Amino acid sequence: ISLKKLNSFGIESIAEQYIKIQDERTLVDLFDQQLFQSEFFILGGGSNVLFTKDYPGLIVHMANKGIQHFIEASHVFITAEAGEVWNDLVWYAIEHDFPGMENMALIPGTVGASPIQNIGAYGQELMHIFYSCRAFDTETGEFVTFSNDDCQFSYRDSIFKKQHKGRFIICSVTYKLELFGKVNTSYGAIEAELQKRGILEPSIKDVAEVVSHIRVEKLPDPSTVGNAGSFFKNPIISSAQFLSLKNQFPEIVHYPINENFEKIAAGWLIEQCGWKGKKVGQVQVWKNQALVITNVGDATGNEIFQIASTIVDDVQNRFGIHLEQEVNLL
Ligand code: FAD
Ligand code: EPU
Repeated sequence: ISLKKLNSFGIESIAEQYIKIQDERTLVDLFDQQLFQSEFFILGGGSNVLFTKDYPGLIVHMANKGIQHFIEASHVFITAEAGEVWNDLVWYAIEHDFPGMENMALIPGTVGASPIQNIGAYGQELMHIFYSCRAFDTETGEFVTFSNDDCQFSYRDSIFKKQHKGRFIICSVTYKLELFGKVNTSYGAIEAELQKRGILEPSIKDVAEVVSHIRVEKLPDPSTVGNAGSFFKNPIISSAQFLSLKNQFPEIVHYPINENFEKIAAGWLIEQCGWKGKKVGQVQVWKNQALVITNVGDATGNEIFQIASTIVDDVQNRFGIHLEQEVNLL
C-alpha cells in the first residue's frame, strides 16, 4: 500500500503490509498471529514522520475513535481513543467549557501520538494535562496503564522515545483538566493578537481561535504544502555556552530554562545561516518559519533528509550547536 496520503510530508513510500486498527482488540489478534515479532511501525496521523524508503514491514495505523468524560469535584477526566484527531478533542473540550487544551489547538495528528513527544505549543505542554494512558505491550500481549510519572515527560520527549521506543501501542489517553482553570495568555504572540482584536477578557474559545490564527499565518498547511512542523527541536545549551554565544551574537533568540540551561530558537539559528525561504530542487525551507522544511513538489524523503543534514552542519559550524531532529525518520 502507498503511504503517500498517510504522511503530512506527502512522501511516496510503499509499505509491505498495512492494517487499520478500529478496535484495540484487533491488537490481541495481531499478537496471537505473532505479527509483532517482525518489523512493524505504529502510525497515527503521519504528521511527524519522514519516510526515506519503502517500509519493509507492517504499518499499524491507529484509527480507533471515541471520547468520554466524567466530572469529579473540581476536575474533569477526558478519555479519548488513540485514533481521534487531536484538534477535534481540543474543540470537544472547548465546547464543553473545559479549559487546558485551548493553547494547543490545531496541532496536527492524533490523540495516541500526543504523549510520544509530549506535544506543546503557545505556553502549554501535554505533560500538564496528561493523567494516564492505556497501552498494548507488543512484547507481552497485555494492556498496561502508564501514569504521568511513568511517562518521564520533558520537552519534546517521553519514555516512548527512549527505552520503550516502538514497544507500546497507545490505545487511549486520559487527560485531567481543572474545571475552573484560568486562560493562559502569557505567550507574547497571543497577547498581541488579543489586543489587536480588542479582547480584554478572553474565553478559552477566544484563545483557541487566536492560536489557530497565529499558526495558520506562520506554518504551511500540510494539505497543500508537505511538511511535518518543526523539523528540529529547539536546542538546550549550558548557560556558559550561551553567555559566550551572546557575546558574539547579541541578537540570539533564547529562553531561560533555569540558572544552568538556556533554550535557543532553532529557527533563528537556521535563518542566520541563510536558509530561510531557500529552495533546493523540490525542497524548501519555509519562508515564514525556518524551522519547517517543506516538500513543494514531489521530493523524496532522502532529498529532505539531505537538506536537513546540511542545515545541521551549517548550524554546527557557525554556532557550535548540534540540532537534534524532532521528526521521526524511517
Ligand atoms: P505520527 O506522525 O503518526 O507518529 C509520530 C510518532 O508517534 C511515531 O514515532 C509513531 O510511531 C508514534 N505513534 C503514533 N501514534 C502512536 C500510538 N497510538 N501509540 C504509540 N506510538 C504512536 N508538534 C508539537 O508538539 N507542537 C506543535 O506546535 C506542532 N505543530 C505542527 C505543525 C504542523 C504543520 C505539523 C505538520 C506538525 C506539527 N507538530 C507539532 C508535530 C505533530 O503534530 C505531532 O508530533 C503529533 O503528535 C504527531 O501526531 P501523529 O498522530 O501525526 O503521529
Ligand atoms: N525565529 C526566527 N526565524 C525563524 C523562526 C523563528 O528568528 O525563521 C525566532 C523568532 O524570534 C521567533 C522565535 O524564534 O519569535 C520563536 O519562533 P516560534 O514562535 O515560531 O516558535 P518556535 O520556537 O520556532 C516552537 C515549537 C512549535 C510550536 C511553537 C509555538 C519546537 C521545536 N517548536 O517553535 O512546535 O508550535 O514553538 O509554541 O519546540 C512542532 O513541534 O512541530 C512545532 C511547530
